[in-house]
Amino acid sequence: MEKLHGFVGRVNGRIANRLSVLRFVFLGFLFLVFGMGDVWACGGRSPYFGEGHQVLINHSYANDGEFLITHMDMRLSVNFADKTIEGWVEYSLVHGYLRDNRKPGSVPPYHINPNSGNHILLLDHRDMDILGVYEGGSFDKKSGKLKKGARALVYEVGDGTGDTLLYGKPLEIEVPRSQSKIVIHYRTRPSAGALQWLSPAQTYDQTHPFLFSQSQAILARTWIPLQDKPSVRFTYSSEVRVVCGAAGAATVGVDGSRTSTTDCIGVEDPEINPTDFNVVMSAVKLGNPEGDFESASNWGPRCWPSGHRIAMNREGGASSNKVHRFEQKKPIPSYLMAIAVGSFGFQSLGNNTGVYAEHKLLQKAAWEFADLQKMVDAASDMFGEYAWGDYNVLVLPPSFPFGGMENPVVTFATPTIIAGDRSLVSLLAHELAHSWSGNLVTNRTWDDFWLNEGFTVYVESRIMEQLYGKNYADMLRVLGKGELNRTLSWMLAENPADSHLRLHLGDRDPDEGLTDIAYEKGRFFLMMLEQYYGRAAFDEFLNGRFRKYAFGTVTTDLFLADLKAFHEQQVALNSKLLVWRDFEPLVLAWVDGEGLPNPQVVGGFPKVESKEFERVEQQVSKYFTSGEPLHPGSTIPCDASVIDTSGFTTHHWLHLLRQLHTRADGSPGRLSREEMAGLDARFHFTQTQNAEIACDWFVLSIQSDYRPAYQAMHDFLLKVGRRKFLMPIYEALLLQRVVKDGKYEPAFAQGKEMATEIFLQAEPGYHSVAARSLRELLGLPLTGGSGR
Ligand code: BES
Ligand code: ZN
Repeated sequence: MEKLHGFVGRVNGRIANRLSVLRFVFLGFLFLVFGMGDVWACGGRSPYFGEGHQVLINHSYANDGEFLITHMDMRLSVNFADKTIEGWVEYSLVHGYLRDNRKPGSVPPYHINPNSGNHILLLDHRDMDILGVYEGGSFDKKSGKLKKGARALVYEVGDGTGDTLLYGKPLEIEVPRSQSKIVIHYRTRPSAGALQWLSPAQTYDQTHPFLFSQSQAILARTWIPLQDKPSVRFTYSSEVRVVCGAAGAATVGVDGSRTSTTDCIGVEDPEINPTDFNVVMSAVKLGNPEGDFESASNWGPRCWPSGHRIAMNREGGASSNKVHRFEQKKPIPSYLMAIAVGSFGFQSLGNNTGVYAEHKLLQKAAWEFADLQKMVDAASDMFGEYAWGDYNVLVLPPSFPFGGMENPVVTFATPTIIAGDRSLVSLLAHELAHSWSGNLVTNRTWDDFWLNEGFTVYVESRIMEQLYGKNYADMLRVLGKGELNRTLSWMLAENPADSHLRLHLGDRDPDEGLTDIAYEKGRFFLMMLEQYYGRAAFDEFLNGRFRKYAFGTVTTDLFLADLKAFHEQQVALNSKLLVWRDFEPLVLAWVDGEGLPNPQVVGGFPKVESKEFERVEQQVSKYFTSGEPLHPGSTIPCDASVIDTSGFTTHHWLHLLRQLHTRADGSPGRLSREEMAGLDARFHFTQTQNAEIACDWFVLSIQSDYRPAYQAMHDFLLKVGRRKFLMPIYEALLLQRVVKDGKYEPAFAQGKEMATEIFLQAEPGYHSVAARSLRELLGLPLTGGSGR
């Protein structure tokens, strides 16, 4: 099956772009010839409804060998009161089987209802209720209702296999042979794993509720039924409305009409106007950037309570609301489906760049991201035309579980990169870099995740070097190497195979592949290749790949084949290079080998040094020699006043804090509480507003039992939901030691109690992906969906 799927994935992008009848027939033929054995073998009988035939392949139930989604036309109603999205989606499908050449049910591998002869489409879905499935054209997008005489299609929710809390269950739909379109009517549940519904109190402006999605890796299925695997690409168009709804259970009629007993727009505050909300999706916005007014007649009866301030429409007519329209004409994988709804504004930052942020944060964000246009221009110069039209960044509330998410057209970002000094903008370079590595050329499976992230970190560092110079980029490389080493120190002991670039996740959550291996080992592998071939030659290789696989997918095997072809060209030009036969094992040591290759050999770990950080290291050794290394009976604490921090930027500070984990004699050390107090008095770390620095400081504080930082640490954990910061702090709490009779003693039980208590208090404010990871860390039961 792997082989078949590999093939399907490679041509997906091209199918969506320019589908020709010939290719279609050819594909069908291949499905028929190569696709049979596997599905047949797993079920043992012709599978159709209820036969337990559902299998997870690359984390998805989708039978994309039989059907491909090529386009989705969506109408979404966002309801803050119910915490639901109601969707009407019309799917364009390509049938991937030979239509005419055989009798119904005669070919066992297909999902067919033998009675009707209809093929069965399997979609991924989780945390949602399916309200109906209809043949194409059944739905009137304008009125938001079913057309008269619409025909319902037969569907069923399968049992699923394995961890259905994580993977959901297959939605199985009988698709008549004549239909190339179907309509699904559904409603998400408040537990939908991708979606986080925030109260006004969790936002910057504190006035409006907020909704955002995080679909990567396999959460798109919690807010749209679809083929949730990166090898399937489709285009989409969408209309979004923020609607009112009953706080209790609203009923939805088959025609889509809602009957509710109470009317509200999701917040009790009558001053909140539904037209205050703005909407973005991972697509180009059509019409007015703030949404277009339309008549309230589209909204069904009693939509707006009389107590609410209702905007007039443009013509000054009756009460009206807004519709937000989007179009994504480039085929994208499901994990790039995204939506955000809140009260936020927009500011242009150049030709095709801009920032969205809540109103009171907008100016600050625009100042922080002033270089965004330069980044886009530099990246386009180096790696080819930017494919997605505009590049905007949306600043989310602090519960956003990641630093950034590369949703096409609009990157989602954590507000913790707004440090007030533009020092954390490499994150924007990272998300922008995904416009080439990831969004344009996509990992075919989550086993190939390093092809997304390793390439992106490499491209990110090229952008940073181009804008801010080599010394700056070198600091980021050294910090990256430090993070990689820290990850390896536990991974090599616990699960060494996870340190291979190419993963074999099987049924494991793809989230488990999100480690520094994909990012940093991947980046340093590419850096080694760059140094080996020379930058100019390596750039040709990169650019060639972006052109060759544009709007398609890649696997590690494809990468290796392309590298081999490129290598052989290079060898022909330069006789000093090793022949592929001798170079290949070095490459495979990176791709399929544990840990890091020896830096002393050709093809080994590249040299990573920073001139700037030498300065920091000198200061650190000065500090450590100003006192005595901590040992029983030590009396002379190190003296913070000897440290010269002139010209320090965020990165210098981070390097300093990370060096403080190690003593002058090389032993991993813990600063005494007195030493921590000395550093804090001089540098005010506990009060820092820089979340990167705060995170490192809180970890040190816990390790040293430095209590004066605990309140700030606690506040931080309640406010910030970025998993990269949460994990190390909670981990440090679990390993807590306390000072007793002048000595550090393990206090693990106490640490666990404290961590659990803080977590349970903070959890309602965390996104499901962060909550899930923390529940695992703390040994709390996983409750699926929202992790709560
Ligand atoms: N695409 C990732 C985030 C992601 C990966 C989410 C896998 C879910 C599953 C994004 O581009 C990313 O790498 N974010 C980093 C940014 C950092 C490396 C600059 C993050 O969030 O920390
Ligand atoms: Zn990334």
